[in-house]
Amino acid sequence: MPALAGDLPSFVPEALPPDPVDLFLSWFEQAVDAGVPEPHAVTLATAGADGAPSSRVVVLKDVREGAFEFATDRRSRKARDLDVNPRGALSFYWQPQGRQVRVAGPVRALDAVLSAQDYLARSPASRAAALATCPGERLGSATELAEAIERARERVDAEPGLVLPEWVVYSLVPDEVELWQGSPTRAHVRVLYRRDGQGWTHRLEWP
Ligand SMILES: Cc1cc2nc3c(=O)[nH]c(=O)nc-3n(C[C@H](O)[C@H](O)[C@H](O)COP(=O)(O)O)c2cc1C
Repeated sequence: MPALAGDLPSFVPEALPPDPVDLFLSWFEQAVDAGVPEPHAVTLATAGADGAPSSRVVVLKDVREGAFEFATDRRSRKARDLDVNPRGALSFYWQPQGRQVRVAGPVRALDAVLSAQDYLARSPASRAAALATCPGERLGSATELAEAIERARERVDAEPGLVLPEWVVYSLVPDEVELWQGSPTRAHVRVLYRRDGQGWTHRLEWP
């Protein structure tokens, strides 16, 4: 099957901004404008105490003060990984543009107030699903899940201010960001930024 097919934008790595998050945000806007489906869906990799990596898709909730925020249940595998090894790596792939962005760095949990705000901003359906779930535990059947969500939905509707205490917003502060523009000629452009004190250095890398 072909990869990196289609009409990819050209990216000339000149006049690069000093801060890679500015370039990320400009690429993100371009992805939205280009109609990339769900450009905020991002793969998050973590590793536990045994060093074994695992990855899954999460939603990028915000980019605030240069940090990338996502939210999850503190009982989940990724959260348990982050407890013992507080580093993560995010990778975005925006297929219609042939663009990949990798972001890596230390991750910390934000406070309960911000996490509660994030939980309450979710739709009633997602609040109910989060309330119903028991991450990492064996589920008996699909019916058990449907019934648990139904009961949780009744609670959410009856108590709209109810917050799931296990809900946590995590903030990844990048120390490395790579922006990658695919090319049909395979002369892909890779720009790697590394944190350097208060600022950043960047260089091109061989693809
Ligand atoms: C598009 C998409 C968005 C998702 N967003 C989230 C999210 O924001 N937070 C979350 O905890 N799980 C999200 N999930 C589910 C996760 O991929 C994963 O199944 C779940 O969090 C359990 O992961 P873990 O056991 O590795 O911790 C999303 C899945 C998809 C496909």
